[in-house]
Amino acid sequence: MDQIVDDRASVAGEVTPGQARLLDAMPELADCHYPEVRDAIPASNYTDPTRYEAELKAVWKGVPVIAAPSALLPEAKSYHQVTIAGMPVLLTRNKAGVAKAFANVCRHRGMKLCTSDKTEKAPRIVCPYHAWTYDLDGKLIGLPRSETFPGLPKSELGLLELPSREAGGLIWVGLDPEKSYDFSTVDGELAEDLSALGLDRAWLYDHASFPVKANWKLVMDSMLDSYHVTRLHKDSLAQFSVDSENQIDRIGSHIRNAAHRANFERKLITRRHDELRWIMVFSYIGFPNGIIVVSPHYTSLGVVRPISVDECVVDYYLLAHDKPTTERAEDRLKRSLELMTQVFAEEDYWAAAMCHAGLASGTLKEVQIGGMEVQIRMFQDAVTDCLERQ
Ligand code: FES
Ligand SMILES: [Fe+2]
Repeated sequence: MDQIVDDRASVAGEVTPGQARLLDAMPELADCHYPEVRDAIPASNYTDPTRYEAELKAVWKGVPVIAAPSALLPEAKSYHQVTIAGMPVLLTRNKAGVAKAFANVCRHRGMKLCTSDKTEKAPRIVCPYHAWTYDLDGKLIGLPRSETFPGLPKSELGLLELPSREAGGLIWVGLDPEKSYDFSTVDGELAEDLSALGLDRAWLYDHASFPVKANWKLVMDSMLDSYHVTRLHKDSLAQFSVDSENQIDRIGSHIRNAAHRANFERKLITRRHDELRWIMVFSYIGFPNGIIVVSPHYTSLGVVRPISVDECVVDYYLLAHDKPTTERAEDRLKRSLELMTQVFAEEDYWAAAMCHAGLASGTLKEVQIGGMEVQIRMFQDAVTDCLERQ
């Protein structure tokens, strides 16, 4: 792991000043007041292909996006591929343990270099087509029958590197290799919060990808509204949840949220995350495409990747705080994964797809936003800000 990760381990487990501010503002459950809001968002934001194309440029190529959690590449000399908004991305962790990102495109004839869905462990990558071979720093280190390419400038034919930054347990990537990105938006306060929650030291239990027939922002919205939790999830999560007066603030375009669990009492508030996880829920939107929700025994990370205006994929990662050492702990993670698969795939992502189907009919000009959905407005405004900055 790199230096950033090691340094932050020293503050593990204690709330950050930003988290403490939200905790201090949390009322007793009996004193919750839900904000009164009358707001609406144009339905076309979700269905207009022209807006989608503009978002690809302004958001997906405009700012760093989350590619994967660090825990997907826990060891040096490993790599993983993922396609984000049409860009095939190769994530590597080189022999020094540094995470890097490249276009997953062979410099010979453009073949997708790595096609595996798994994290591979090897010091080099061999193109399946004609076996051009690269190291994990992207350098072209060999090709068969090289004499048939006289004068080939090998040193100039390394993989195209994408700007990237590993911080707070997430690997962020800039999808335009020509552009310079401001990574200070992802490796400052947000990374400190996520490290305090242990994300930088998390162990990946399992992950799965879910195709969703919905605009990518509808999936983000489904994670942003606290209104649905006890309703849509009445047969799953509702047993652990209550309507909460969420405490919300922004870290730039990212959103930080503190919600009550049903057993919350102010006198139980401490400064330690291992205790707080049992009485309240910290969650984050890592703008534009990450959803992080803290549970007592694990943290859920959803990474959204758009495919088209009406389709996206969500990568769901179940991140344990530690590798389980007992069968009981392992079994608990297995059951958690089953529960979260139900909650996210069969409930949240399903609702996003059903909303898309409704909105695509053109029946509504706008969708209504109430006081328990104000984060949706914050998120949509952050998207619009990107479009207006273009
Ligand atoms: S396309 Fe990769 S070696 Fe030919
Ligand atoms: Fe939900």
